[in-house]
Amino acid sequence: MITEKAEYYISEIERMKAEKNAIILAHYYQTGDIQDIADFVGDSLALSQKAASNSADIILFAGVKFMAETAKILAPGKKVLLPDMMAGCSLADSCKPEEFKKFIIANPGRTVITYVNSTAEIKALSDIICTSSNAVQIVESLPLNEKILFAPDRNLGNYVLNKTGRDIVIWNGTCHVHEEFSLEAIINMKKENPDAKILVHPECEMPVRLVADYIGSTSALLNFTKKDTGKTYIVATEAGIIHQMKKENPQKNYIPVPPRDSTCGCSECAFMKLITIKKIYDCLLNENPEIFVDDEILIKARRPIIRMMEISEKLGL
Ligand code: 13P
Ligand code: SF4
Repeated sequence: MITEKAEYYISEIERMKAEKNAIILAHYYQTGDIQDIADFVGDSLALSQKAASNSADIILFAGVKFMAETAKILAPGKKVLLPDMMAGCSLADSCKPEEFKKFIIANPGRTVITYVNSTAEIKALSDIICTSSNAVQIVESLPLNEKILFAPDRNLGNYVLNKTGRDIVIWNGTCHVHEEFSLEAIINMKKENPDAKILVHPECEMPVRLVADYIGSTSALLNFTKKDTGKTYIVATEAGIIHQMKKENPQKNYIPVPPRDSTCGCSECAFMKLITIKKIYDCLLNENPEIFVDDEILIKARRPIIRMMEISEKLGL
């Protein structure tokens, strides 16, 4: 239920968006109320594409810092706002520039493909960026004999390696949400709901990927539930996506997978959930906190992101 206070913030956000020519871009892991006030909701690839092509003066990013940084890199002339600077990412944090430089030096002659869930500094050290929507296709777009270094997510890296059979060395990073899904809970859920289909994000560990009926990025999982004729889905990604799934197909059932060793019913990204309607209101009002990326890093990080966008466009992704 929306309280009177929340209603006030939402109407003020709408007013300020029009007054300041601002748009709100939100990731599927945001809470439902935020997804509902966003001008655009999407996965990491779609959000980058939207950030690169819009006529707003201000982009308010309802997501985490690496996403807002990517928006700033793609739209350096715009003001990019992030309502809480603490909205980081455990996966991006698992890859620090100094160690990453050493890893690249220790594995010479490899094309560095980096998942978008990384800091601007790490992107600046990369050849091509990818998202979970296009990682397999980006690797497949390279010549067969090209050696690859993939970072920072070891699970997505392994998924891509298994799919493509390419020569890939992988950085040992993980996401605290996708690493923690309980395989035991999934198996029990499937016993209780034998017709349910198991949907898995490629950031999940191999045993969870092995029981999946379908593996894909957040938008791919959402599209699967839209097109599939099934009625029930066991969802192994951050539970925010279920908001859109319910909106698209309210008559279907969506069961969130809980983390291991936990009594809570679903898995949430603590960083994503730092963003609230009140913080969006404050942020738009004060035009702060604002994202800044060092000029040199921005220029270097932009190249591999643009390369990803060009390959994606060519492939119709
Ligand atoms: P996608 O929405 O691109 O699948 O990414 C998932 C994720 O973990 C974002 O942090
Ligand atoms: Fe990072 Fe994982 Fe949160 Fe995505 S879900 S923002 S990868 S910590």
